[in-house]
Amino acid sequence: MEMESTYLDILQEISELVSLNKSHQKTLKEMLRILDQRMGMRRGLVSIFHKDLGELHADIWHGFETADNQNIKYKLGEGITGKVAEHGVPMAFSQLDDVPFFLNRSGSRKNLDLAKLSFICVPIKYYNEVIGTISVDISIDNAQISINTLDAELKMLQVIASLVAAFLEQIKTEKENIYLRQNLLGDQALTKIYGNSSKVKGIKQLVSQVANSPTTVLITGETGTGKELVAEAIHILSPRKNETLVRINCGAIPESLIESELFGHEKGAFTGAVEKKIGKLESGHQGTVFLDEIGELPLMAQVKLLRVLQEREIQRIGSNKTIPIDIRIIAATNRYLEEDVASGRFRSDLFYRLNVFPIQLPSLRERGADIILLADYFVEKYSRLLNKKVTRISTAAIDALMAYHWPGNVRELENCIERAVIVATENVIRYQDLPPSLQMKDSKETEQQSMDLFRTKVQAYEKELIIDALKSCDGNQAKAAAMLGTTNRIMQYKINRLDIDFRKFRKKQP
Ligand SMILES: Nc1ncnc2c1ncn2[C@@H]1O[C@H](COP(=O)(O)OP(=O)(O)OP(=O)(O)O)[C@@H](O)[C@H]1O
Ligand SMILES: [Mg+2]
Repeated sequence: MEMESTYLDILQEISELVSLNKSHQKTLKEMLRILDQRMGMRRGLVSIFHKDLGELHADIWHGFETADNQNIKYKLGEGITGKVAEHGVPMAFSQLDDVPFFLNRSGSRKNLDLAKLSFICVPIKYYNEVIGTISVDISIDNAQISINTLDAELKMLQVIASLVAAFLEQIKTEKENIYLRQNLLGDQALTKIYGNSSKVKGIKQLVSQVANSPTTVLITGETGTGKELVAEAIHILSPRKNETLVRINCGAIPESLIESELFGHEKGAFTGAVEKKIGKLESGHQGTVFLDEIGELPLMAQVKLLRVLQEREIQRIGSNKTIPIDIRIIAATNRYLEEDVASGRFRSDLFYRLNVFPIQLPSLRERGADIILLADYFVEKYSRLLNKKVTRISTAAIDALMAYHWPGNVRELENCIERAVIVATENVIRYQDLPPSLQMKDSKETEQQSMDLFRTKVQAYEKELIIDALKSCDGNQAKAAAMLGTTNRIMQYKINRLDIDFRKFRKKQP
């Protein structure tokens, strides 16, 4: 009775352990340790079956004196472990010296009396398929095991093996998902950077060139040109993709806090430092650190950052200890750092350390027809997100998009299209759905200018209506006129005046 409740306790302990979601290694090691402590199972070994090789490989072990279990392998059918895996049935021996095919591969029982050791090996099965084995030694002296309890221990170990099976399968699925997700992300990272212009193609090429190396990258460009997007793409395409990407916005942290943010501090390093704090640079160890708005970094912090880049080590504030760190730096700014260097606002030595591989992002107005491509992409994106049926942008609206100077670049275009999709009442984005900034060049216009503008707007709207009508009438002017409730003559006049090529809309002759 007492024994049973112990078994239940142990099972509960192990099933809790398995559900903690720790690493594979930690979980199985801890499990073998529990089996040792609570059940006298001195030496424990989990082996994993590698189907492609037809071999079991030692994976996790506990209690062996020799640390060299790394290369222990069993072919199917070889030794006890190989037989258990081959047949999928457990085996138990009250005395190891009785077993003719015991291999003692690990060699660590040399000085032990095999007659005083029991041995159990159970298969780890997932849906009838053997994925590994668990084997344990039980010292007869310690546990005073009789055949009866050996049988009980075997059953217990089988239950544990089923927990391990579920655990290993879950880990495998998670690993596969991470792998699949990353491949997908890797592909997506570049396709997320939209654009067909030669400038953008050049950027994508630079990104794939530099991603693989640990080189420091400096991304420059006006606000909203996609600096963060490019930084993410570089990280995802790099060998560090499984590690963290730490983002530090140097412009958003108050000057008095920036050093402790970057480097961390020891407890009591300054007033208010009640706890030890790990800095952002340190937390990016083995990963990528994205220093956004690097141009805003105060001069004092610039000095310290330069040291980090040179020495590849940091010191927490209030500590003399140097901690080596391995980080890949990507910095970004919308400032002209060369000018800041000239005016003494930015240290030239830091600038040269950062400017190893510069990537300069073009402004949207330099990207020509990309505006239409991006606009179409955002129309699709926000139609889907907002559950609307907007599918296209009218010609007049496209003209306005192309004429605008886009000081906020892609971000502004995205916001503009989102707004237009919201206000659109049909499945087309019309000129008047665009924000006022695009419809008016300057709010302080003279009367005459605003009259002109009004006329331009009316004309743009007219043009749009006429083109739409011509499209649906296959270029037939008379039909289009009737459709718009006007005369043929006025239609002809407008078509000439607004410089519309009605032939474009004629049905193609077969
Ligand atoms: N080439 C592009 N393709 C698709 N989306 C883009 C592209 N460039 C930028 N964007 C989008 O525009 C928005 C702004 O981009 P991002 O935040 O990367 O710009 P930024 O250069 O970091 O701007 P800031 O200097 O203001 O921080 C984001 O939503 C981003 O997804
Ligand atoms: Mg940014």
